[in-house]
Amino acid sequence: EKAGYKHFMAKEIAEQPVVLGDALRHYLRPEGVNLPAELDFSGLERLTLVACGTAFYACSVAKYWFEQLAGLPCEIDVASEFRYREPPLPAKSYAVFVSQSGETADTLAALRYCTEKVQKTIAVVNVPTSSIAREADLALPILAGVEVGVASTKAFTCQLLALAVMALKAGIDRGHLSPDQLAGHLETLRALPGLMNAALSTSDEIAKLAGQLAEAQDILFLGRGPMYPLALEGALKLKEISYIHAEGYASGELKHGPIALIDRMVPVIVLAPHDRLFDKTVSNMQEVMARHGKVLLITDGKGIATAAEGTWASLRLPEVAEPFAPILYALPAQLLAYHTAIAKGTDVDQPRNLAKSVTVE
Ligand code: F6R
Repeated sequence: EKAGYKHFMAKEIAEQPVVLGDALRHYLRPEGVNLPAELDFSGLERLTLVACGTAFYACSVAKYWFEQLAGLPCEIDVASEFRYREPPLPAKSYAVFVSQSGETADTLAALRYCTEKVQKTIAVVNVPTSSIAREADLALPILAGVEVGVASTKAFTCQLLALAVMALKAGIDRGHLSPDQLAGHLETLRALPGLMNAALSTSDEIAKLAGQLAEAQDILFLGRGPMYPLALEGALKLKEISYIHAEGYASGELKHGPIALIDRMVPVIVLAPHDRLFDKTVSNMQEVMARHGKVLLITDGKGIATAAEGTWASLRLPEVAEPFAPILYALPAQLLAYHTAIAKGTDVDQPRNLAKSVTVE
């Protein structure tokens, strides 16, 4: 059932163009998005997004989208903090719970906390029969198909897609997006499966870098804007399956502490599409190189042309319009974790101490 792949994780990474295509067919219409009519973001004062682990990083990326595309104030939290923090919630708000399994105990408890306090609770899940799907007022499927590998891969990109579609709907409902802007964003989303195929073709190059990455004690991931939470996700994926200590940082935070870690031994993975923040990220990257850090730059053709000089290595992805680059850049981040773990000889589908579904807190 691994369909010729050595591991479920490899299979699930490779499936992403197909499952994302399925999700696009479900959620996109020629002129707009296909979401239940009862979802109306127009009068909301706030959106609250709650999840654990990788699903939380999907929420963290989506915060940038809801703010930028819809002007909707957005709060995010990990479920284990949220549920005990007992935060006040505006009545004119929706609360969104993102969970692959739909059974995560903390996320379910956070949902129960919000029930009756907000206008609507919304589940974004991969398992439509799950507890979180059943208890929420509305459940939106991510359509990733069964995910077996403990490290979440295709569920993450499909969570991002469902949240992107919600953010576009919010942008329309709130009059924040013009029809032209909407059309442009829909086009960007529709192009993703094809771009993902190109991103998957970096796998062999990544495998060649993995031998050196596998020798590192610590690895840093840097990103700005919506690429910052992707840096957090890249670090989580790597530590989960390769057991190498990894941290994600907002590029601009580098000089506020983590730069002290940099030396020849520390690989720094920079996730930087050539967007409006690119030059700022590159100047952070140069600070790393000035201290002999080993930079792996993941960018597009324009980024390579302007900034690859002096890096340890660079990977070229196709260009993708803002702000949806994290959906594409997730793939090399997953492949880096995968190949590094393979180089170390760890069990990528069943990493030690981890369970696929965390039904106790
Ligand atoms: C990471 C991973 C975990 C889960 C987290 C939430 O690769 O798989 O961090 O994302 O345990 O699980 P769900 O999405 O099932 O609520």
